[in-house]
Amino acid sequence: MHDTATPTIDYARYDRIRPIRWTGEVLELLDQRRLPFEVDYLACTTSDEVATAIHALAVRGAPAIGIAAAWGTVLAARGVDAADGATALATIEPALHRLNAARPTAVNLAWALARMRRALEAAGSDWREVLEREAHAIETEDLAANRRMGELGASLIAPGSGVLTHCNTGSLATAGFGTALGVIRAGVAQGRIGKVFADETRPWMQGSRLTVWELQQDGIDATLIADAAASHLIKDGQVDWVVVGADRICANGDVANKIGTYQLAISARHHGKKFMVVAPSSTVDMDTASGDLIEIEERDPSELLGVSGSRTVADGIHAWNPVFDVTPAALIDAIVTEKGIVEQPDEDSMRAMFG
Ligand code: MRU
Repeated sequence: MHDTATPTIDYARYDRIRPIRWTGEVLELLDQRRLPFEVDYLACTTSDEVATAIHALAVRGAPAIGIAAAWGTVLAARGVDAADGATALATIEPALHRLNAARPTAVNLAWALARMRRALEAAGSDWREVLEREAHAIETEDLAANRRMGELGASLIAPGSGVLTHCNTGSLATAGFGTALGVIRAGVAQGRIGKVFADETRPWMQGSRLTVWELQQDGIDATLIADAAASHLIKDGQVDWVVVGADRICANGDVANKIGTYQLAISARHHGKKFMVVAPSSTVDMDTASGDLIEIEERDPSELLGVSGSRTVADGIHAWNPVFDVTPAALIDAIVTEKGIVEQPDEDSMRAMFG
């Protein structure tokens, strides 16, 4: 069904934004609350500042919050006096717990912290260097995974296709290049994608504030639609693939992603269109059997009660603000990771790929 030819992608053009910068002393986070009109980096010097930035969505997107937490671990260890890694770990454990509690749904956060803990526990007197090396590895491996997924995912898309994406899964949400947006970048670069649509992604507007801005930086033409226009667009025949990211992929192939993803999968299936999930293997959680077991983050209802800080809803109105939903595996045509593509995911095919 898919070819494996890999035309080169001009990463100098398609991979320029970096949401996370480690200076050696300070963690700088591109403050996504202020985009697209202000491009400003927030300087974090403590792990608690990183935890606050993750919770407040200054840095967001599953892989990016894992990477930020890894560097947050390095910051937590600043000033710790310990002879070996295990002793240092015992000292910083409360700070790691606060980082982990910053957001519940994306497994990349817990995954990155577990990896930092393991590295530290095994380290001797050189534990500081070990910790910094591990954070750097988590970041560089994510970038490499994204580039690989871009090629793999794009290989599924027939030339001239229309794609629709949801939320922001680009450089801003990762170490760089992006997951679903990486597939779109690769697909455009290879001439496979003729038209890109992006949902605005209410209530936080990741699509309208971040995704179309990112694509504009690359010179990729994208059309913004209201979330509520998606089924109409798909029915109209303008979309061949819905391409989204993930915050957690379960052992049976169920996928948690930004609220609104599930209805896109239903609509794609209803209209005979394809649905692709793109995520690094750090998003795969084989310890969670199915989507019913995932904790879905509910954020402050105030995010729903206004637009850009201006209240649009009468006083006294209640709102419910779950920010992720679960798409059942049966509605997914392909899960693309850097390890390969799982088509028609289920427990068996997931286990065959991820053990
Ligand atoms: O609340 P957010 O903006 O962190 O949610 C992000 C998403 O849902 C993304 O689709 C997901 O994290 C994948 S990002 C590569």
